[in-house]
Amino acid sequence: MPWRKKWIDPADFDGTKDELGDVLARRAYEVWVSEIMLQQTRVSTVIPYFKNWISKWPTVQDLAKANHDDVLAAWKGLGYYSRATRLHEGAKAMVAQNSSLPCPIPNTAKELQDYPGIGRYTAGAVSSIAFGVTEPVLDGNVIRVLSRQLGIYADAKDKKINDAYWDVADQLVKSVGKYPEVEKSKVPGMWNQAMMELGSTICTPAPNCEGCPVQNTCRAYAEGVVLAEKKGKLK
Ligand code: ADE
Repeated sequence: MPWRKKWIDPADFDGTKDELGDVLARRAYEVWVSEIMLQQTRVSTVIPYFKNWISKWPTVQDLAKANHDDVLAAWKGLGYYSRATRLHEGAKAMVAQNSSLPCPIPNTAKELQDYPGIGRYTAGAVSSIAFGVTEPVLDGNVIRVLSRQLGIYADAKDKKINDAYWDVADQLVKSVGKYPEVEKSKVPGMWNQAMMELGSTICTPAPNCEGCPVQNTCRAYAEGVVLAEKKGKLK
């Protein structure tokens, strides 16, 4: 797929050029589909479904035109079918409302959340990873990383605490340093994905602290809380 070869900087897109709009729309669509599939489903399970989906409907316009029974059939085995239905509805709504634009998928987290099935997490992932917007993401894995790194031992099921974690994630993604070797527009998405990856591979419920690249800044590690948790002494 030639559009994939080069990172097109979203900052170079002024909202008018069809070719750039198309590249960004494809990228945003792929991030959107994968993030929805990855909710409640592990990466290894998602990969074949994702490949099959993209070969059937490579763009948001293709998905908008799809037959709903075919969409459900392509989801068969992933479970939580409402995810597929809302993805399809979202695609139809975006294409219906934004067909005059080179990129029918909006780039801000606020606008993305106007569409079915897109909450704050998915909006943050699409806007940061596909469009380079400085928006946070927060899921169970990111909460665990933040909780341990910063020593916030509070239950995120509580709405106020969950909001506080979003604020922390927001402040962090805004304060990520400058990396001359990385395009500026890639940084928020890379930061967010690194947090998710750390939480799903190393900073797991039973963490591998010895293999952790940020053990030296971890408050929970320093306080021995992670080990206590591992031994089941802490809730
Ligand atoms: N889990 C869900 N989405 C992810 C992403 N973009 N990167 C890493 N882990 C993820």
